[in-house]
Amino acid sequence: MKHLLLLTVLIMPSFVSAEPASNMVWMPETLDFVKNGNVQKGEQLALSCASCHGEKGISAMGMFPSLAGQTANYTYKQLRDYADGKRDNPMMNSVAQGLSEQDSADLAAWFQSLPAAQNKTSNQDLSKAQVLVDQGNGKKILPPCFTCHGTSGKGKRMDIPALAGQQAEYTVKTLMEYKKGTRHNDIYSRMRVISKQLSDVEIKQLGELYQQMK
Ligand code: HEC
Ligand code: HEC
Repeated sequence: MKHLLLLTVLIMPSFVSAEPASNMVWMPETLDFVKNGNVQKGEQLALSCASCHGEKGISAMGMFPSLAGQTANYTYKQLRDYADGKRDNPMMNSVAQGLSEQDSADLAAWFQSLPAAQNKTSNQDLSKAQVLVDQGNGKKILPPCFTCHGTSGKGKRMDIPALAGQQAEYTVKTLMEYKKGTRHNDIYSRMRVISKQLSDVEIKQLGELYQQMK
């Protein structure tokens, strides 16, 4: 019940500011458009992504996120946000500006069709992060991560990304950016509100935990 209240706080329209976080609006037509992305065309287009994101969407370096197995809606939204300048990254802004909406949907379909990264193991004690994933923190505005990202970090429909198997270095970097507000393309500020409640140590642990999640 308490978590339900917290979730309500997070999705309240009071968080919507004049400047929208994203130009993405999930209308039924948009959902259909992304669902019908062409995997074969996406595979061809993805040749130009391989140098950074890996041939099968699994990147070899921590600073480059893996894309394999990611939910298509999320990948599509990120590509449009980079193209619109709603999410800032010099490398990705120029890549995405060269992609049409159709290209973005095709790429999103291709990456969703690939098996996600093999989970690496860590011998660190990640029990505190596990509590945040399972229970959140009732003393703060911190609902458990699983309510949105799923119990095994697989993501969900609409715009919720999968996190399982993701490069820890990237996850930490992006959570720190939400926390500072330099990443601000999350609709309703959901991830900015959540990251501000997390300490840097918790963020590091969460990155490790999701990287090794099965
Ligand atoms: C020169 C290297 C480079 C190339 C080429 C590149 N990317 Fe990226 N990509 C990055 C980096 C670095 C990030 C992380 C940027 C950030 O933190 O915002 C990223 C982030 C992304 C994200 C966001 C992932 C997430 O989990 O939020 C998507 C989606 C993406 N790239 C898709 C693509 C696609 C599709 C292509 C090919 C058409 C491509 N990228 C080509 C470097 C590259
Ligand atoms: C209220 C739902 C909700 C909750 C709870 C939530 N998230 Fe998220 N998360 C989202 C949404 C929606 C996005 C995509 C935002 C966007 O479009 O940029 C996201 C994005 C992310 C990303 C970026 C993924 C990427 O590939 O760049 C990370 C990392 C993340 N969440 C971690 C967490 C962690 C850790 C927790 C728990 C402490 C958590 N989230 C709790 C909804 C939620």
